[in-house]
Amino acid sequence: MRGFSQTITFLRESPTRKIDAIRERLKRENRDVINLSAGQPGIQPPIEIRSMLANQLIEGKGMDLYGYTPSQGIMELREAVSEDLRRLGGIDVSPDNIVITAGGQEGMFATFMTILNPGDEVILLDPTYFGYKPIIEYFGGRIKRLGLSLNEGFRVDVEKLKELITNKTKALVIVSPDNPTGSVIDRDTAKAIADLAKDEDFWIVSDEAYRTLIYEGEHTYIYRYAPDHVISINTFSKDPGIPGWRLGFIYGPSDAVPKLKLAAEEMTYCPPVIAQRFVTMYLRSEVRFRHLKYIVEEYRSRRDAAVKALREYLPEARFIVPRGSMFVFADLSGYIKDSERLAELLLEKFGVTVIPGTYFSDIYRSAIRISFVVESIDRIVEGIRRIAEAVSEYGRSL
Ligand SMILES: Cc1ncc(COP(=O)(O)O)c(C=O)c1O
Repeated sequence: MRGFSQTITFLRESPTRKIDAIRERLKRENRDVINLSAGQPGIQPPIEIRSMLANQLIEGKGMDLYGYTPSQGIMELREAVSEDLRRLGGIDVSPDNIVITAGGQEGMFATFMTILNPGDEVILLDPTYFGYKPIIEYFGGRIKRLGLSLNEGFRVDVEKLKELITNKTKALVIVSPDNPTGSVIDRDTAKAIADLAKDEDFWIVSDEAYRTLIYEGEHTYIYRYAPDHVISINTFSKDPGIPGWRLGFIYGPSDAVPKLKLAAEEMTYCPPVIAQRFVTMYLRSEVRFRHLKYIVEEYRSRRDAAVKALREYLPEARFIVPRGSMFVFADLSGYIKDSERLAELLLEKFGVTVIPGTYFSDIYRSAIRISFVVESIDRIVEGIRRIAEAVSEYGRSL
């Protein structure tokens, strides 16, 4: 009988992709739109690595830049990732425990394909990255949410987390540095969560997409505290900044890796070879640290400008100063109720794109996520000024 899968209805168009499509159209119509929505770096990868790749593309013989690769990813890249994790995080992850994927998105899909059975419970924080819900539901998982308080810096309260654990709990997803709030998990909380995962025997899916974009403090690698219970999701979309080339990686314990590899293999056969070669050169070059220092300093000053503009133009906005990632999550409940209507209005009438809080949260429905990595400081400030103009003109009706 002709028809469709019941589970396909759980998949939804990503809100950022949807807004990007509208923004592209407005750009073609020559409308000036300030992009405060995308989690896409505004800075190109380092020229030295681009030149190396360009030379190889022209001079290279054979199929090294064009052929299939092993589905787990080329060994040189897995070795480079392993070295990187040791150098930056002090953790020991063998190249055998790393699976290169076509972006973090494939890593997320492969992870839940590997661990979930229908009826399993997965704990998501609220707010959290919107990418997880559809995937978990697609595989029949049931979502339980742990609400986080802005007043407490969006910190995970481990006692409250314990109350959500049942004998059906299969996994907890932690995104740190966080999208959308920019909060960074502290070591004691990470350790307490790791201990809980070991005691109660559930997976921690640790999303480390923004692990190198830290403005204060440091990133905690939860894997260190519970290596048998952590599957980590990573991406090269943010650093070195190649989202359109689709490359990321997962790492985890030895019993999970062959299954993760098979899941990824079924989906894409192998990750894009050109991106694998490019990132291998990047991770192995000293340019990486210079570039990282440069982007972190640049994004920190843009973050500071965004925070200052929010305090000046929207004094009733409530937010934490993000210590990592690319975003400020500003609760505008002092001005509006409905963040989706505000986002639509901003796009149509004020030429600004933001992501509504409803995409990340059932609690923070009046919040918006503001990205500070795409636009220049002047345009970030102008964008926030326009948001203030919109809420002062239309706030009561939203
Ligand atoms: C927290 C988080 N995880 C995973 C991803 C997926 O990244 P990609 O598929 O581009 O590697 C993103 C993208 O924005 C993200 O913000």
